[in-house]
Amino acid sequence: KPLQEPPGLLAFLLALRRNPLTTWTERHFSEPIISGSGALGRITVVNDPDVIRHIFVDNAANYRKDDLQLRVLAPGLGKGLLTAEGEEWKLQRRTIAPLFPPRVVSGFFPAMVESAERLVRRWQRRPEGREVDISLEMTRVTLDVLERTIFSKGVARDPDALGRAITRYFEGLGRIDPVDIFGLPDWVPRIGRWRARPAIRFFEELVNELIRDRKALLERGEAAPRDLLTLLLEAADPETGKGLSDLEVAANIVTFIGAGHETTANALSWAIYLISQDERVRARIEREVDEVLGAGAFEPQHVERLVYTRAVLDEAMRLYPPAPFLSRAAIADDRIGDLTIEAGTVVTIAPYVLHRHRTLWDEPDAFRPERFLPEEKAKIDKFAYLPFGAGPRVCIGATFALQEAVIVLATIVRAVRLDLKEGHKVTPLHRITLRPHEGLPMRLTYRRES
Ligand code: HEM
Repeated sequence: KPLQEPPGLLAFLLALRRNPLTTWTERHFSEPIISGSGALGRITVVNDPDVIRHIFVDNAANYRKDDLQLRVLAPGLGKGLLTAEGEEWKLQRRTIAPLFPPRVVSGFFPAMVESAERLVRRWQRRPEGREVDISLEMTRVTLDVLERTIFSKGVARDPDALGRAITRYFEGLGRIDPVDIFGLPDWVPRIGRWRARPAIRFFEELVNELIRDRKALLERGEAAPRDLLTLLLEAADPETGKGLSDLEVAANIVTFIGAGHETTANALSWAIYLISQDERVRARIEREVDEVLGAGAFEPQHVERLVYTRAVLDEAMRLYPPAPFLSRAAIADDRIGDLTIEAGTVVTIAPYVLHRHRTLWDEPDAFRPERFLPEEKAKIDKFAYLPFGAGPRVCIGATFALQEAVIVLATIVRAVRLDLKEGHKVTPLHRITLRPHEGLPMRLTYRRES
């Protein structure tokens, strides 16, 4: 529930560290633009789709990623695509873009189906009625998909070791540290970064070893799998023909995992939670999945036919956008109609607020996947719904994530039914991504053996 009044400075800073979601006020959900100056400098919160289009697309060159965001993300993600800026970003985007068009992503279909089916087979080995933490299970399955699509195989001897290291890595690095809020220099110790040190070492050594081995294989001219690692090592800038350095390849592997792991997992977790709360939606998605997939094999052409399943995911990402907060800093003064944005202002576009804005959505807090069925979806302003951002820095992995999420959700719905553990209170926690606080314990019952 949004606050009626803005909190005082100390309460604001504490809330920002604990759960930034709790700092939004009623005004944010009802006014198109809110500007102000506070502890974090000059900030303008934008919920007007035309102004958002201006910032993300028409005048995108005047907006860079702001310092706080980079201070939080860059120590983990290095100079990969998500955190690079200026010419460096442009070059990387041009070089990496050919890895993610639908034609290439559809090649990852078998890996995604294999991960999804392994997950439900693992569940089905356990007695019915058992409880699983869906939040944890979804981060496992999305990590499994990334391992198979980046490296073509499970990479660590202990299959959960990589998962544990990644969780610790991003948890340690992913919190907004007070030191970051006040913009202190890089050498000032950060608790999170210090705690994450062993995980950082484990993870980086593993990635470097995998790059070294694959390069050796390619240099020997031996057949290499056509996974994202090979594609990154072979990628070349279409303008200059130059490839990525080993450091850039490593940074982008970490970036794909960082940007694609929890986000997709959260989209799935929230979708499963919302389905469990609405019998009408549950009946309709089960009917679609049974009709499209039947008892047979999951085929690539099924993905496009699962329109209601896709609408459930779109609506889940409206209510609980996995990336709930985007921000930019204005480079020079900018005028948009009556609005002036001075140089240095941080412009905040918060999908969590935008997607529930009273002026943009009918019944904004209600879960109604029908909004996203093709005819209705066409009526939605593209800049009122931004789970993947927009403009030149739009998510490069959106097609990948949506294909994966449809495959995983349909595979789960076909096999099992999930109900929230009685008495468990679900609250969204904003920690870079938007996840269920204290997990999502759910009870499993079987619909069919896979
Ligand atoms: C960028 C969301 C999955 C890789 C972004 C941005 C958003 C986003 C909102 C833009 C950030 C900004 O403008 O500040 C999501 C969501 C996902 C998802 C909601 C899942 C449901 C993935 C996957 C990958 C990926 C699976 C890779 C395999 C990236 C990268 C960028 C990015 C590399 C930076 C692009 C650039 O700046 O040029 N994502 N993402 N994402 N995403 Fe995703």
